[in-house]
Amino acid sequence: MVAAFGGLIFGYDLGISVCASSITRIFGRRLTMLSGGILFLVGAGFNAFAQKVWMLIVGRMLLGFGIGCANQSVPIYVSEVAPYKYRGALNMMFQLAITIGIFVANVLNYFFAKMKNGEGWRYSLGLAAVPAVMIIIGAMFLPDSPSSLIERGKDEKAKQELIKIRGTSDVDEEFKDLVEASQSSMAVKHPWATLLKRHYRPQLVMAIAIPFFQQLTGMNVITFYAPVLFRTIGFGSNASLMSSMITGGFNALATFVSIFTVDKVGRRKLFLEGGAQMFICQIVITAAIASKFGVDGNPGILPKWYAFLVVGFICIYVMGFAWSWGPLGWLVPSEIFPLEVRSAAQSINVSVNMIFTFAIAQVFTSMLCHMKFGLFIFFAFFVLVMSGFIHKFLPETKGVPIEEMSVVWQNHSFWKKFVKSASEEANAKVDNSC
Ligand code: BGC
Repeated sequence: MVAAFGGLIFGYDLGISVCASSITRIFGRRLTMLSGGILFLVGAGFNAFAQKVWMLIVGRMLLGFGIGCANQSVPIYVSEVAPYKYRGALNMMFQLAITIGIFVANVLNYFFAKMKNGEGWRYSLGLAAVPAVMIIIGAMFLPDSPSSLIERGKDEKAKQELIKIRGTSDVDEEFKDLVEASQSSMAVKHPWATLLKRHYRPQLVMAIAIPFFQQLTGMNVITFYAPVLFRTIGFGSNASLMSSMITGGFNALATFVSIFTVDKVGRRKLFLEGGAQMFICQIVITAAIASKFGVDGNPGILPKWYAFLVVGFICIYVMGFAWSWGPLGWLVPSEIFPLEVRSAAQSINVSVNMIFTFAIAQVFTSMLCHMKFGLFIFFAFFVLVMSGFIHKFLPETKGVPIEEMSVVWQNHSFWKKFVKSASEEANAKVDNSC
C-alpha cells in the first residue's frame, strides 16, 4: 500500500512538473513560485495537524505540487534575471538552499524523533512551512523576469524591470535580444513538438542526460548508506546524527566552492574535476569495504584508522558532487534552453531528475544486497561515462548571455550539424520560398 501510494504521489509530482511548464509559460515564473509556495504551506499544515491518514496523503500531494512548481520556476527565473557574468554563482544559490534545507531537516529530525510523546513527526513535517513562507515572501516582492514579461506581451514593464535589475538605463542591446528571442518564441505554438525537432537536439539530449547522470553519480545512495557505514565503523547510536552533520555539512559548505569558481573556471572544468574526484573516492571506498566487510558483511573489529579513512573519503566524494554535478545539474539546463522551449525543456529536466531519484531510492537496498561493495563500482562506472559525455558533448557556457546561447552549439564540433546559424536559416527560408 505504502509503496503504491509512494508511486502514486511520485507520479503526481511528475504530472505537476509537466503542468508547471504551462503555468511558467502562460502566467510567468513569479506566479508559479508564489502558487508553489502557497500550496507547500497548506501541505505542511495538513501534515502537521493530520488526524487521519488521508490528511497526510493530501498534505504530501500539496508538497509535491510545491516542489514541482519551485524546481520548474526557480532555476530558470534566476538564470533569466542574473547578469550573465554572475549567472553561474547566482543560480547555484538554488543548490545551496537545497543542501542547507537537507542539513537542517536531518538535524532537526534526529531530535524530533527522540521526543517522548511520539508527536515529533508533526514538528518534522510542519516545519516545511518555514521554507514555504520564505518562498511566498520572496515571490511577493520579486519582479517577474523581463523574458517572461515580454513573452506575455508586457514589453514596457519588461524594459523597466530590466533597467531596475541591471541598475543602469543602458539596457537597449539586451532588451533588443530579449524581444527577438520572444518573437521567435511566439512563433512557436507547440513547445513540446518543437523540442523534438532536429534543431533542438542538443537541448533535448542535455535535458535528459544531465539529470539522469546527476542521479547516477550515486550521491543519494552514498548519503543514504553513510549512516549504516558510520554505525558499523563505530559511531554507535549517534551514527545517523553524525552522518547527517558530517556529510550534510560538507555538502552545504562545498557548494560555496562552486559558487565562487563557476563563473571564473567555467562549467566544464568543474564537471570534469568533480567527476575525477568522485571516481577516485568510489574506488577507494569499494576497496575499503571489500577488504574489511568482504561479501558476508562481517568486518570483525575495525581499527580507528579505518573509520577515518572511510569517513574521509565519503566527505571528499560529497564535496566533489557538491561543487560539480549537484549545482551544475540545475544550472546548465536552465541556461541552455532557448525561450521558445525553455519551460517545456525544464519540465523534462525536473521530471527525469525525479524519476531517477525515485528509481534509485527504490532499488538501492536490493542492489546493495546483490552487488555488495560492487554497488560503488556500478556508480563509479557511470561517473566515468558521464565525464566522457561532458568532455565530448557539453560546450562551455560561462560568460555567454542567455539569449545568445545558440552560438555555443553552432561552434561545437559535434552539435553544429544539428543546429543552423541565423544566416543559414535565412537562406533556407529564401530557398523554400523559391
Ligand atoms: C539533487 C538531489 C540531491 C541534492 C543534495 C540535488 O542537486 O538533485 O538529488 O539530494 O542535490 O545533494
